[in-house]
Amino acid sequence: MKKILIVDDQQIIQELIKAVLVKNMPGYQILLAFSGQEAIKIAKEQLPETILLDIIMPEMDGYEVCRTLKNDKLTKHIPILLVSALGQNSEDRILGLNAGADAFLSKPFDNIELLLQVKVMLRIKDAEDLLRKRNETLEIFIKKLKKLNSELTLVEERERRRIAEYLHDGIGQILALTHMKLSSIKDMPQSPKLQKIVSESSDLINDAIIKSRLLTYDLSPPILYELGLIPAIRWKLGQIESKYGIDTVFKNGKDILGIKNDIRILLYRIISELLTNIVKHANAKYIEIEIKKDKKYIYITVLDNGQGFDYKPDYELNGQGGFGLFSINERLDSLSGRLVIESETKKGTKAIVIIPA
Ligand SMILES: Nc1ncnc2c1ncn2[C@@H]1O[C@H](COP(=O)(O)OP(=O)(O)O)[C@@H](O)[C@H]1O
Ligand SMILES: [Mg+2]
Repeated sequence: MKKILIVDDQQIIQELIKAVLVKNMPGYQILLAFSGQEAIKIAKEQLPETILLDIIMPEMDGYEVCRTLKNDKLTKHIPILLVSALGQNSEDRILGLNAGADAFLSKPFDNIELLLQVKVMLRIKDAEDLLRKRNETLEIFIKKLKKLNSELTLVEERERRRIAEYLHDGIGQILALTHMKLSSIKDMPQSPKLQKIVSESSDLINDAIIKSRLLTYDLSPPILYELGLIPAIRWKLGQIESKYGIDTVFKNGKDILGIKNDIRILLYRIISELLTNIVKHANAKYIEIEIKKDKKYIYITVLDNGQGFDYKPDYELNGQGGFGLFSINERLDSLSGRLVIESETKKGTKAIVIIPA
């Protein structure tokens, strides 16, 4: 049963309030306390929905009770209605509100006003309880989503590697062997027609070898694993130059060797996403990547001279917008890093990835 606590050192007042509440609020159990100490004890044990609290009491006054309850994690959410003859004075009201009280009622009070005030307190309690519950659920969801996001990144990376290895070791080997075998019969005496077919097949196989190698690199560049981030970025920029005709420049102040494997992969994926965005959205003629490092941070700047855009943080987008930048932010968040975007329409975009060194 839901409870309401009345705190007053005068029994007659307690009974007056109790009578009003019992008559008009049958669903509630009424608890009584005669002193501040008793009030705190009952509040902690019974967790009432609201507390009607007298100010002037011997030993511990209402302000102190209020402060104590509002400073306690267990009881701070219980709305407190101060009921006192002092309530007519605005200084006393301020004192009460500063102590954390939610409302004031002056003695002597009108029964209807008392009842309405109590109902307001209960409404506040209900609304706050609901909000707290939703917040808790939301926080659990956010935590799970963050975990899922990093899990996804890892799974994607594993799958990419698996397919890349299969392409390279499985299909790649078979193609290479076939190519060798075809080459070996090329020079054997045979009809010109057959020679033509063998030569054409050999070219096709060669083409397939090049394509599967490109796909392997696209999926999971071996350079990244074997030589590191910087050669992998250079390779990626080279790809963009030849595929899209965009000029690229790579400025590498200090090398950032010595970063861990997973972080290297993560950074590579982030840079790839930024580059994909430029290719997809920017209509740029020029891309520049710069890596700098100071004592505390590594800064990776990816800049383009394209059309720019109006960058807004995700919470302002109301669920619109893609997952690319969102996912970059999330991944960086897990590294205590962040993404800064400076972009202006027609002036291009500068994205700076910052992570602790
Ligand atoms: N370099 C850029 N130049 C111009 N617009 C960009 C650039 N990067 C991102 N954008 C804009 O920001 C939006 C969100 O990007 P993103 O989160 O990666 O999602 P998506 O690429 O799937 O659309 C893009 O749709 C695009 O309008
Ligand atoms: Mg994108």
